[in-house]
Amino acid sequence: MPYTIAVIGDSIIPDRPSRDLIIYSRSSGLNAYYVPISRISVKVDKDGALAVIRDRPFKVDGVFLRSLGVLIDVETLFRRMITMRLIEGSGAVTINPLDGLLRTRNKLETSVILSSRGLPVPFTIGTEDILYAYNTVKGMGTAVIKPLQGSRGYGAIKVDDADVAFQVMKTLLTIRKPLYIQKYVEKPNRDIRLMVIDNEIFGCMVRVAPAGQWKTNVAQGAVGKPCTNMDRELEELAIKSVEALGLIYGGVDVGEGKEGYVIFEVNGSPDWAELTQVVNKNPATALVKAMLRRIKA
Ligand SMILES: Nc1ncnc2c1ncn2[C@@H]1O[C@H](COP(=O)(O)OP(=O)(O)O)[C@@H](O)[C@H]1O
Ligand SMILES: [Mg+2]
Repeated sequence: MPYTIAVIGDSIIPDRPSRDLIIYSRSSGLNAYYVPISRISVKVDKDGALAVIRDRPFKVDGVFLRSLGVLIDVETLFRRMITMRLIEGSGAVTINPLDGLLRTRNKLETSVILSSRGLPVPFTIGTEDILYAYNTVKGMGTAVIKPLQGSRGYGAIKVDDADVAFQVMKTLLTIRKPLYIQKYVEKPNRDIRLMVIDNEIFGCMVRVAPAGQWKTNVAQGAVGKPCTNMDRELEELAIKSVEALGLIYGGVDVGEGKEGYVIFEVNGSPDWAELTQVVNKNPATALVKAMLRRIKA
């Protein structure tokens, strides 16, 4: 019997990384299919608790967990979390593990964990206190206000006027959003994206932003170029960050600040279309190997 792998995501139709994972799983002899997490239910009865699809037990050897959903409310997140916990508890090898993915989803928790390991992150506050935020932004000079949970650069704003920041922050607090604020790190119009898989650098690209754009996300117009400035320090930062968060793989965004490298964030379910082009190999191949190693162990 071949092993069975499920790629779990939020969308009804699998995105590109999910499709890659299915293709490479199948070509490695695995049974692989995609399932939206909304389709997996939890059943609790006299025999215990079980993840099910309709009334069939959901039983697989491995899961590639790509997304728990973004535009969902807290209750849906809770339901999905316990669903994934049951699946992990049933013995399915889960890449990335639920807890690791949750840590990266919360940018403030990521910063706390990285800094507790001595890894360089920008000066950061996470707060719901408008006065503390206002005074801190004043001291920062230029600040970046980011969604606590965000991706692709969407919603991150750069402000150098504390009163403009005040209006934005007050509005966020009014709709009961917490504030996640970082000092703006002066950097060249690029950052470095490193993909770590199983404690090794799988690939690296420099993301070059268009002139005048401070965000270096591909979704914001940046273009990936080969990494020419890789050094041991950079490699170690990326590998340690992924390990600190309890991830098996991760995409680490590193800026080149005046005082050295800074880690902007770690992505627990990174996109890899641009990286695949730049390094000319697909992370899904290494991820399927990482899965097989663990299933067979
Ligand atoms: N504190 C900061 N200083 C300077 N640039 C930043 C800062 N935070 C983010 N950026 C820029 O914005 C990009 C997106 O921020 P990031 O934290 O990676 O969030 P996202 O999840 O949206 O990618 C980064 O790759 C970087 O280029
Ligand atoms: Mg990023």
